[in-house]
This record gives sequence, C-alpha cells and structure tokens, in this order.
Amino acid sequence: MALPSKPHLLLLLLLPPIVMLPSLSHQAQDPRVIDRIVRDSAFQSYHTKHHKTAIAYKLPLPSSLSAVAAETVRYRAGSLRRYGAAIKEFRVAPGVFVHPHIKRLIVVRQNLGNLSAIYNAYGNISGFQLVSPVLGLLFYNAAGLRNSSSKNLSELEILVARRPIAVDFSRVVGNLQRLRPLCAMFELDGNVSLSNQTASNKCLSRRQGHFALVIESAKSENSKVSEWKVVVVSVVAGAFVTVLLGLMVVAVASARRKRYQREEMERRAYEEEALQISMVGHVRAPTASVARTAPALENDYAPSSS
Ligand SMILES: *[C@@H]1O[C@H](CO)[C@@H](O)[C@H](O)[C@H]1NC(C)=O
Ligand SMILES: *[C@@H]1O[C@H](CO)[C@@H](O)[C@H](O)[C@H]1NC(C)=O
Ligand SMILES: *[C@@H]1O[C@H](CO)[C@@H](O)[C@H](O)[C@H]1NC(C)=O
Ligand SMILES: *[C@@H]1O[C@H](CO)[C@@H](O)[C@H](O)[C@H]1NC(C)=O
Ligand SMILES: *[C@@H]1O[C@H](CO)[C@@H](O)[C@H](O)[C@H]1NC(C)=O
Ligand SMILES: *[C@@H]1O[C@H](CO)[C@@H](O)[C@H](O)[C@H]1NC(C)=O
Repeated sequence: MALPSKPHLLLLLLLPPIVMLPSLSHQAQDPRVIDRIVRDSAFQSYHTKHHKTAIAYKLPLPSSLSAVAAETVRYRAGSLRRYGAAIKEFRVAPGVFVHPHIKRLIVVRQNLGNLSAIYNAYGNISGFQLVSPVLGLLFYNAAGLRNSSSKNLSELEILVARRPIAVDFSRVVGNLQRLRPLCAMFELDGNVSLSNQTASNKCLSRRQGHFALVIESAKSENSKVSEWKVVVVSVVAGAFVTVLLGLMVVAVASARRKRYQREEMERRAYEEEALQISMVGHVRAPTASVARTAPALENDYAPSSS
C-alpha cells in the first residue's frame, strides 16, 4: 500500500509550476485603475486650466503611465447629439444620447501604448493577440466637476441611436491587412466581443470602452512563445506526466498482482502436494482411490492381457 501513495506526492510536486504560470500576467496593471487615473487627470485639468468646450486637451499623467497618451474634450450634450464629435481615431456620429439626461459631458480618449498588453490578460481573448495599441473612449458627466463626491464617478450610459462610433487605427498601426485582423471591443464590464473590420484598420461600435485590432495567435509570425501557449504546453505536459505516472502505477500494480497470482498458484500447488502427501497415509484419501481404481478399470477393459 506504500507504493500507490508515492505518485500522489509526485503530483503535488508537479502542480505548482503548472498553477503558477498564468500569474505572470498578474503583475500587470488593472485597466480600470488606469481609466480612473486618466479620468481624475481630466477632471483635474478642467478645475485648473482647461475651460473651452469641443477642444481637445492633452492630459498630464503620472510617470507610471508614461507610455499612455490621453486627451479630453468637454461637450454640451445637445451639441454632441446634433453634430457628433471627432477625437483623434474616433468619430462619434450625430445621434448620440447620454443617460441620464445631463447638460455637459467630458469625453476621454486613451492610447495605452506599450501598456496595451495588459488587455491580453484582462479581456477574455484567449486564442487571440493584439496587433495594435489599445484605444479607449469613455464618457463622463461633467457635473462631476462641481461635485466634491465625484471621486468615483462612473462612466455615463451612452445610446448610439444612429450610426455607430467609428475607430480608425490607421494612424497607430502599419499595414496589417496581410494578417486579416479582427476588431476587439473591451467593454467596461469586462466583456470582450470580436467583429470584422468594416474597412482596412476600421472598426465600428455602439458602446464606449476600449478597442484594438487582434489576430488569432496561431497566425502570429512572432516567434516568441506567447503566454497562453506556455500555459497550454505546461498543462499538456502535466497531463502527460500524470498519465505516465498512472500507467506506472497500473504497471506496478499489475506486476504485483501477477507476482501475487504466481505466488498464490505456487502456494496452492504446494498445498495440494502437501495435501496429497498427507492423504496418502489416510484411508479415505481421494487421490489414492483414483490411483487405485485406474488399474482396476484397465484390468476390466483389457481382457486380452489376462
Ligand atoms: C513603455 O514606454 C515607455 C516610454 O514611452 C518606457 O519608459 C517604458 O519602459 C516602456 N515599457 C515597456 C514595458 O516597454
Ligand atoms: C473565457 O471564455 C471561455 C469560453 O468562452 C470561458 O470558459 C472562460 O471561463 C472565460 N475566462 C474568463 C477568465 O472569463
Ligand atoms: C453630487 O454627488 C452626489 C452624491 O454622489 C449626488 O447625489 C449629486 O447628484 C451630485 N451632484 C451633481 C450635480 O451631479
Ligand atoms: C463610490 O462612492 C460611493 C459613495 O458616494 C460609495 O458608496 C462607493 O462604495 C464608492 N465606490 C467605489 C468603487 O469606491
Ligand atoms: C457580458 O457577458 C455576459 C455573459 O456572456 C452577459 O450575460 C452580459 O449581458 C454581457 N454584458 C453586456 C453589457 O453585454
Ligand atoms: C467575419 O466575416 C466572415 C465572413 O466574411 C465570417 O465568417 C466571420 O464569422 C466574421 N467574423 C466575425 C468575428 O464577425
């Protein structure tokens, strides 16, 4: 019984590396924390120096976000609805309503630059990988400016009544058409959806959030092994080792069973032998009677010999 417990111990030793691999991505920052930092910078900037509506201002960000570029624009809700908006890569067509009904709103646009990779872990896009920076477009109630409790102001609900919001990645990526990328939409609640491009490097959305171009990971010409592959390989290797150990246990068990059976047969043979020996001396020994009747039968059926 000592043997079967050994493979369990071995499995325990094997598990930690398999479990720990995905945590590589967890040292990355939380995208929603970045959203809040950018939002706070936007609101702060209207408190201090920015005052005009429909003008895009570049936002100062802490050094931890030096890779991120962000702009903010303030709109009157009515003029956004009537005229739409154009902020860098984004085109918001006329016909956008915000909920609840408010007077002014603050729109924030982000380019996450080399921090975009955090969306590989945040959104559930296993099997795909980013081929563009992640761009974000978020809407806030400008009334938060007058409110000291605006610290955790969440995004407004927007209703895109007519044409969807367009995102054009041409300014931030090269020619990717050979890779046939898809549009990935990262919603604020963490949902991810994929759609086809509507034209080269162009995506459409009826929601605010973050956007990127992605390709299936297998299509990647990047030779470096992506994280999910490492995970898959280690899981497969773990399963293989587990199966191997299982087979070893089965083999050892069956060898033991065979040895036991052989020993059992030998033991039985020995016991039978012993039985025979002990019964020979006994009057009612069955072996002895068989041994004696045989010659008797032979005598009956072989008259020629007598
Ligand atoms: C990202 O870019 C910034 C400058 O834009 C640089 O300081 C930083 O080291 C880069 N980070 C990574 C992980 O490449
Ligand atoms: C990712 O999606 C797959 C299937 O769509 C699902 O089984 C899995 O739980 C999801 N993972 C996360 C972290 O949402
Ligand atoms: C200010 O914040 C409070 C509490 O969050 C909220 O009830 C109130 O409506 C806000 N005021 C404005 C003008 O948005
Ligand atoms: C946001 O503020 C409200 C009070 O105004 C508080 O109850 C809530 O917990 C805060 N949420 C976060 C995420 O800080
Ligand atoms: C997010 O995904 C969940 C599960 O697929 C779904 O039930 C939910 O409606 C989605 N949320 C949005 C805002 O689409
Ligand atoms: C993209 O379009 C192709 C056909 O042109 C379709 O088969 C595929 O499902 C579409 N992909 C998405 C994510 O909509």
